[in-house]
Amino acid sequence: MSELLERGRNRLEWARAHMGVLAAIRKDLVKTKPFRGLRVGMALHVEAKTGVLALTLKEAGAHVRLASCNPLSTDDAVVAALRDEGLDTYAKKWETNAEYDDNLHKVLDLKPNVVIDDGADLIYRLHTKRRELLRDVIGANEETTTGIIRVRAMEREKKLAFPVFDVNDAQMKHLFDNRYGTGQSTIDGIMTATNLLLAGKRFVVAGYGWCGRGVAMRARGMGAHVIVTEVDPVKAIEAKLDGFEVMRMADAAKLADFLVTATGDRDVVTAKHLRTVKDGCVLANAGHFNVEVSVADLEKMATKKRRVREFVDEYSLRGGKKVYVLGEGRLVNLAAGQGHPVEIMDMSFALQALCAERLATKGTRMEARVYPVPHELDERVARLKLRELGVAIDRLTPAQRAYLASWTEGT
Ligand code: ADE
Repeated sequence: MSELLERGRNRLEWARAHMGVLAAIRKDLVKTKPFRGLRVGMALHVEAKTGVLALTLKEAGAHVRLASCNPLSTDDAVVAALRDEGLDTYAKKWETNAEYDDNLHKVLDLKPNVVIDDGADLIYRLHTKRRELLRDVIGANEETTTGIIRVRAMEREKKLAFPVFDVNDAQMKHLFDNRYGTGQSTIDGIMTATNLLLAGKRFVVAGYGWCGRGVAMRARGMGAHVIVTEVDPVKAIEAKLDGFEVMRMADAAKLADFLVTATGDRDVVTAKHLRTVKDGCVLANAGHFNVEVSVADLEKMATKKRRVREFVDEYSLRGGKKVYVLGEGRLVNLAAGQGHPVEIMDMSFALQALCAERLATKGTRMEARVYPVPHELDERVARLKLRELGVAIDRLTPAQRAYLASWTEGT
C-alpha cells in the first residue's frame, strides 16, 4: 500500500470514529437504502469528514461522484483512499481553476438526481452551461452561507429550477459549524501557515456574522487584542457589547498584525487599505470565495512576490514594506488547516444526509424554491448529539406545554 493511501485510510478511519451522529443515521440508511438507483453529485471540500459522508451515501445505495468546491481544500491522501474504496473522486490539492471547473463537470456528467453543494458551483453550472441535465435533478442541498446567497438570488429572479434545502441556516449547522467550526479551524489554519504568536497581537476580524463571531471569540481566547469591522449596525453593537473594539476597516487596517475576512462579500480589503497596513501584516480569508482580500490589487502594487512558506506569499511593496497573504486568499481553514473539527462536521453532515434522504424520498413533490431544513431533522440531530455527549435534558410536563400554548393563564 502506498504511504499516501495508508495516510488517507487512517484519516477516514479517525474521522469515522468521531462522527457518532452520522454513524447512527448510517445504521438506518443502510437498512432502508433510500438512494438505491439514484445518482448523487457532490461538490464539497474533499477531506476526511466529507469522505465519510460520501461513503455513507454510497452504502445507502447511491452512485456517488465527488469533486471539491475549492481548488485548495483537497486532501490528496483522502482522495487516494476514497478512490481505493471505489468512490469516483475528482479533486486534487493546488488544482488550477480550469481543472477545478473540469472536475465539477465530471461530477455533472453523472447526471445527478440529488446534488450536494458547498458554495453553489454545481447548482450554478446546472442552471447555465448544463441545463440539459436539469430534468434529472430532484433537488439539492446547499451547505454554506455564500451558496445560499447565490441560490436565493436565483430564486428571487425566478430562475431556480429545483428545490434546494438551506442546510446552512439549520440551527444544528450554523450555530456550531459557522461559529465554533470556523472559529477553531481558522485559528488552526493561521497557526499552521505562519507558526506565529497570536497573544498580544492586534487581530482584525472583518464581519460579525456567525463565522466572524467564532473567529473573534477564539482569537481573543488565544490572547490577541481583537478588533471587529462590520457594516450591519446591530451586529456592530453586538460586537461592541461582546467586548471587542469596533471600527471602520480604514482605521482597523492600519493597526492589524493579523487581518482576517469573514464577510462573504467582495473587496473588503483593497488597495486603499493595503497602502496603509503595517509592515509584516498577515492577511487571511475565512469566507468561501477568494474575493474578500483583493489579491489582484496586491499583485499590482507589489514590486516582488515570493512564497516564503507552504501557504504564505510575501508581497514586497514600494518603500520596503512586506505583507503576507495566506493560502492565496482562499479560505484559510481548509487551504492551510484541516477544516472544521470532526465532531462539528459530524452534525453538519448528519443534516446533509437527512436532507438528501428527504430529497430522495419526497423531493419529487417539492417545489422549485429554497426550503428550510425541517425542524424535526434539526431536532433529531440535536438529540443524537446529546446522546453521544452523554447529556440528559428535561422534557416539558403536559401542564408546562399547555401554559406555553395559552394566553389566559397569566399568574
Ligand atoms: N470540511 C468539509 N467541509 C467543510 C466546510 N464546509 N468547512 C470546513 N471544514 C469542512
